[in-house]
Amino acid sequence: MSAEEASPRPGRSADPPVTVERFGKTVRWFHWTFALSFVCLAATGGLLVLRNPLGVRPETAAWLLTVHEAASVFLVVVPTVVVLSGSTREFFGEIALLFRWSRDDLRWLTLQPLSFVKAIELPAAGKLNAGQKVNGIVMGLLTVALLVSGGVLYLRPGALLPLAIHIFCFVVWIPLFIGHLGLALVMPGTRPALRGMVTGRVSREWARHHHPRWIEELEAGDGVSPRR
Ligand code: HEM
Repeated sequence: MSAEEASPRPGRSADPPVTVERFGKTVRWFHWTFALSFVCLAATGGLLVLRNPLGVRPETAAWLLTVHEAASVFLVVVPTVVVLSGSTREFFGEIALLFRWSRDDLRWLTLQPLSFVKAIELPAAGKLNAGQKVNGIVMGLLTVALLVSGGVLYLRPGALLPLAIHIFCFVVWIPLFIGHLGLALVMPGTRPALRGMVTGRVSREWARHHHPRWIEELEAGDGVSPRR
């Protein structure tokens, strides 16, 4: 048993456990099934866009298109099944956080770029900081635009406007995804968040540092259901 698991639970001792639950099973399975299909769509879509300069053979391009279309069906069906068969309440609770904005979130968003050039204390973030809320909303909008324009392209292959929208959304998504990967896998300060998306739990101290308002609410409330 790890030191963390051996830590006392609230109610049995004055010491709170050293880890806190960040994401439940439904949100994690949704995230990873969604991410898997998105990465597959991006890889096959990218190769299709660049098929001429890369010299992709027509039969390979046809195969890539089939995989691309299958991944788009997966993107719609599998995460939906995950949500409907899991805790819909937990899932929509997390989605609601994306749209719950406080004055501090707006200040966080304005001050965050400045924090790269000078030492500023950012307003305390809730469970998701304002950057994550923007990321979640933009990813959602891009997904809808990609699915709609992709659906039109399926019915009318080569149609110019939907193709332009489809490629535009893909191009906008690339830097967002690189930033997302950088935060999750490279940046030392935010890398511990990966554990939350894999195991569901993160270190309480890390969470207190990065999402202080969330931990305050968690400790002030029932210890289970922080709001932001
Ligand atoms: C494939 C590699 C990916 C990794 C390693 C990864 C990692 C993570 C992690 C660790 C979090 C939790 C952040 C936290 O607890 O504060 C997260 C959240 C999130 N991920 Fe991913 N992710 C990946 C792919 C994707 C993809 C492809 C999408 C969407 C197209 C996506 C959308 C999101 C969203 C909307 C959130 C919540 C808001 C945020 O934290 O920005 N992720 N991801």
